[in-house]
Amino acid sequence: MPLETVVWQGLWGAIALLMAEVVRDFYHMVSHYWPPLMRLHNWHHRAYKKDFTPVSSTLYRQAQLYNDAPEAVVMTGAMVGLAISTGIYGFWLGALYGLSFLAAAVARAQGWLLATDLTHEPGELTTMPSNWRVNRTYHWRHHFDDTNAYFSGSFTLLDKLMGTGVSLKGKTVAVTGASGTLGRALLTELTRQKARPIALTISPEASFEEGIVCIPWQPGAEADLREALKKVDILILNHGMNGHGDRDPAAIQTALEVNALSGWRLMEVFFTTVETSAQRANKEVWVNTSEAEVNPAFSPLYEVSKRLMGDLVTLRRLDAPCVVRKVILGPFKSNLNPIGVMSADWIAWAVIALAKRNVRNIIVTINPLTYLLFPLKELGQGIYFRLFTHGDPWA
Ligand SMILES: NC(=O)c1ccc[n+]([C@@H]2O[C@H](COP(=O)([O-])OP(=O)(O)OC[C@H]3O[C@@H](n4cnc5c(N)ncnc54)[C@H](OP(=O)(O)O)[C@@H]3O)[C@@H](O)[C@H]2O)c1
Repeated sequence: MPLETVVWQGLWGAIALLMAEVVRDFYHMVSHYWPPLMRLHNWHHRAYKKDFTPVSSTLYRQAQLYNDAPEAVVMTGAMVGLAISTGIYGFWLGALYGLSFLAAAVARAQGWLLATDLTHEPGELTTMPSNWRVNRTYHWRHHFDDTNAYFSGSFTLLDKLMGTGVSLKGKTVAVTGASGTLGRALLTELTRQKARPIALTISPEASFEEGIVCIPWQPGAEADLREALKKVDILILNHGMNGHGDRDPAAIQTALEVNALSGWRLMEVFFTTVETSAQRANKEVWVNTSEAEVNPAFSPLYEVSKRLMGDLVTLRRLDAPCVVRKVILGPFKSNLNPIGVMSADWIAWAVIALAKRNVRNIIVTINPLTYLLFPLKELGQGIYFRLFTHGDPWA
């Protein structure tokens, strides 16, 4: 066979593996909505306790036969169908791949090869949910956080496309700067997503929609919030101020305290509340820095303070016990920026739509340069911080 043909078939082989995974994930999703498949899939959900130990070996084996085996048959069948109808040999690799899962499911139904059930390995969750590959913690959330989300089995592609990579339903989400323009828009969008928002505000006189719990706080007293933060799943650090042309020592002190140090301290307090498997799986911090991390905001002190916060987040998320997202926003109309061009409502919608796709660095701006400069800066700085700090550089 000519070399060119071998290369093409190899490429098709790789595409076939990816397509087999998409078929698996699609089958899984349909199993949550179509009653005939739901009946089979329920065996899978009934088979595990909260630490992924099997409820009983009989139930576990039945789940392999009634859920995992048919799923693998569908994967294999789809690939065989594609191989025959297109004549592309690469799809046979996808069929073999599907068959390997069928063989493993049948073996596990006999009580053999139990160690091949990687995403259901029993025990405590020790890592946070991964981003592109499905790890145990990622999949745990499908069983015990929201069964109508986190459908992906190996690669998180389907969840990223469908917005099921993070579920906000029933989550307690605390937002700082809550009475500000974006703070209020976020609270509204979170309510729409069936989350339970909490307003963290320095303005105790501020009023919020019915049903939103309001907790007053002050920069410098972050530790006082620890008890409240224990019950919070997602902390959104959104408070901020802009002193525009100020450069005197008092203004520098205030800007660093409000835009960087208070947020960093709150994040550290929140990290101390991540103790159990469920908390490692579900807790998150989102930090609204700004595109001022990489672009001018025509307010030097604002840039200095926001860049400090951005750098601290980049450094701390090397060892963070839970997911930490950055929110990188361009100019939107608000009390802080009356001439911003985007609307806070749109920003809130976009931020949450991207977070549900498990995007770790959420960029929403009209400036195309930010989409290029920010990822480069974050990648370069992340590598630099890993190499020149103590600890495992590849953690
Ligand atoms: N507007 C933009 O163009 C833009 C662009 C990129 C990033 N951002 C960032 O987005 C976030 C929200 O800003 P926004 O535009 O919605 O502004 P905003 O309407 O002024 O809201 C900011 C809120 O932060 C809180 N805050 C203000 N001073 C504070 C202080 N000294 N200590 C603690 N909290 C204080 C206040 O909320 P409470 O009184 O409820 O605590 C205030 O309402 C900020 O972090 C900002 O830097 C804005």
